[in-house]
Amino acid sequence: MDVDAVRARYASLRDGGFVYFDAPGGSQVPDEVGDAIARALREASANIGATYESSHRVEGILAQAREDGARFLNCSADDVIFGQNMTVLDFALSRTAARDWKEGDKILVSRLDHDGGVAPWVELAADRGFEVEWVDVTDDLRLDYDDLERKLDERVRVVACVASSNAIGTIVDVARVSELAHSVGALCWVDAVQYAAHVPTDVQTLDCDVFICSAYKFCGPHLGLAYGRHELLESWRPYKARPAASDPVGRSFEPGTASYELLAGFSATIAYLESIGGMEAVVAYERTLGQHFLDALPEGTAVYGEQTMDGRVPTFLINLEGVDAVDAVRQLGERGYGVWAHDNWYSLGLREKLPYPGSAIRVGLIHYNTVEEVDGFARELGALAGQ
Ligand SMILES: Cc1ncc(COP(=O)(O)O)c(C=O)c1O
Repeated sequence: MDVDAVRARYASLRDGGFVYFDAPGGSQVPDEVGDAIARALREASANIGATYESSHRVEGILAQAREDGARFLNCSADDVIFGQNMTVLDFALSRTAARDWKEGDKILVSRLDHDGGVAPWVELAADRGFEVEWVDVTDDLRLDYDDLERKLDERVRVVACVASSNAIGTIVDVARVSELAHSVGALCWVDAVQYAAHVPTDVQTLDCDVFICSAYKFCGPHLGLAYGRHELLESWRPYKARPAASDPVGRSFEPGTASYELLAGFSATIAYLESIGGMEAVVAYERTLGQHFLDALPEGTAVYGEQTMDGRVPTFLINLEGVDAVDAVRQLGERGYGVWAHDNWYSLGLREKLPYPGSAIRVGLIHYNTVEEVDGFARELGALAGQ
């Protein structure tokens, strides 16, 4: 991947003045995506269903976005669902899935999960009398598949988990979770917000039932995207206005008017990713960059979770011995490095297993970051550690 050519496509990266290591919170966006959004508002400001040209253009945007989403996820365009963001999609789809569940039914969530993938189930359980249980992590902060197996029984309706932790970057073996969930007739429900930004997605291989991600984590607009297994979507009764379209089936789960301009931006995002070699090129580049980061860390840096690039995306949670994370992040920001400090990273189950008091620093690399940026950051960390 030609990272200089990639960076030239971003107004925010062209001057090289500030280093963005904050992609897990929201990535930078190439100019062509913003241009596509503006073009849609200029040239296709209409609603679907009219006889005239601007309405046809909106229909074109919708159909194109569905095709692009399907290529990105490796599924049929019929089974793509767009929504405001992952959290809204998760709240809506979990309620739809559970319409015929019974009191006492069980939901498993994982300790690696972001609360956007936990709270929808907790709230649903509070309303409907379901039980929610954590699947634990091992001492090295991987998903504990044995614990999952122990907690599975015929009352379990869904196993919800992240595909990759937003806090420590650890990847979950979703295919294994699917197999285990399906062995008791439960659904495998995946929060892929962090995973989809770094790893080529293939929902067929993962064999999951629901898979939800957010385009703003992979250089797109603030828009959520989901896949649902076709037979499952066909079996659900949607919450929708009755005259609204139900064809293709994914449309049934997009109540109200969509953000057409953001869908145009989404298509431009997929075109951008494909033009730089697709997610296969991204994962190869980020693996090398991530390992370079790990190798460059100064002595006295604690990395929580995976210690190499095996089994992780390049999202790192670290602390410098004897340095307060909040203070370090403030100083790093003043020196031109955008990273965050936080206590729980919305990963409430994981937080109970993380050893630090207070906060930790999250450093999130993505394909537009460079070796030079990593080296500069490591030098700043070294200076902070030596203070
Ligand atoms: C793993 C994970 N899940 C869910 C979310 C929530 O996503 P959204 O902002 O699209 O609702 C985030 C946001 O950072 C995340 O990292």
